[in-house]
Amino acid sequence: MSRVGNAINISDLRAAAKRRLPRMVFDYIDGGAEDEYTLRGSVERFADYGWQWNSLVDSSQIDTSCTVFGQTIAQPFFISPTAASRLFHPRKGELAVAAAAQKAGIAYSVSTLGSQTLEDIAGVAPDVPKFIQLYVWKDRGIVRDFMARAKEAGYTGCILTVDATVAGQRERDPRNGFSVPPKINRKTATQALAKPGYLLDMLTSSKIGPANFEQVDTGGRDVMGVINELFDPTMSWKDLDWFINEWGGPFAVKGLSTAEDARRTVDSGASTVWVSNHGGRQIDTSVPVIDLLPEIREAVGAGVEIIADGGVRRGAHVLKLIARGANSVALGRAYLFGLAAGGEVGVTRALDILAADVRRGLALLGVNRVADLDGRLLRQLR
Ligand code: FNR
Ligand code: LAC
Repeated sequence: MSRVGNAINISDLRAAAKRRLPRMVFDYIDGGAEDEYTLRGSVERFADYGWQWNSLVDSSQIDTSCTVFGQTIAQPFFISPTAASRLFHPRKGELAVAAAAQKAGIAYSVSTLGSQTLEDIAGVAPDVPKFIQLYVWKDRGIVRDFMARAKEAGYTGCILTVDATVAGQRERDPRNGFSVPPKINRKTATQALAKPGYLLDMLTSSKIGPANFEQVDTGGRDVMGVINELFDPTMSWKDLDWFINEWGGPFAVKGLSTAEDARRTVDSGASTVWVSNHGGRQIDTSVPVIDLLPEIREAVGAGVEIIADGGVRRGAHVLKLIARGANSVALGRAYLFGLAAGGEVGVTRALDILAADVRRGLALLGVNRVADLDGRLLRQLR
């Protein structure tokens, strides 16, 4: 508790996660593709935009809420889908994150590669919006069943991730001898033995796998093998209609980078454009999301929902993405560090830190509502 309780910012939670996790597991969260330019650049680019603020604005009534997939949540940020959370917190994983989302009043998204079932997650987060994320199995029937189960369990949004046609080259993983789930070899055993607390949790918890697809024979493949060999590489624009119609509700395409593709997403009938570079885990040296947002906003118009993510470690990062054109912001590592450091308490700590940042930031900017943030408050310095 104390490590988490003493955390003042997300960087403190990252340090606590690093102490708790074997290096290979920490590196799977923390790392990015190739030379990690995108990974570092996503965080650092925020500092290249400087604030100007409105003075002498009554700040006694600040509203931090926003809408995502048409539903109101308490903060302008929510939980982005991430694979296999039980790897970072073997007992609860996604359930700890979803319980913290429920407490914070924000939305939760479950990954196709999540390690808890849709139904169990819905059980701990009954009152907040919940979304499913799709990677597309070659057998479309599996995807259809997943969508049907999600609707039945009360999930209201569907996210199709399109920036992982193949797995990115994350070089820390092979260097650590790591895969998801981990295989026992000399390198991984040494790293695991160095963190006995984590190892004990792992050894006394049930096996970690894609909990929502127990019927699928993955032939013992790890996550990267599943992405490269079992997901459908033929996916293209002509398939998008099928997914949107099959879901029949709010639908986002996640991992968009060009204005043209954003426009095409909207023309296909999706409600939501999600600008993301997967947290720097896929293509390296990509244009930072904060740079792309104005052209994408211009392409889709004011009425279309835009979600952005990548590199968010402070409330100010959330506010900057919104000022540049997003309606809401998704969190990846920020909550995963909290999860690894202290389970539900750690995630709550991460969300509380960011919520306090957002409230303070809005007050200092002289902006009372998230939707009133706009590009005039930011100047590009570099
Ligand atoms: C991810 N992300 C991701 N995205 C997705 O659509 N499906 C997935 O299964 C995963 N898995 C995943 C695992 C881990 C460990 C991380 C860190 C990320 C990407 C995620 O949703 C989001 O786009 C990024 O994490 C955002 O960047 P930050 O906030 O982590 O810098
Ligand atoms: C990742 C994949 C699973 O980023 O989306 O690790």
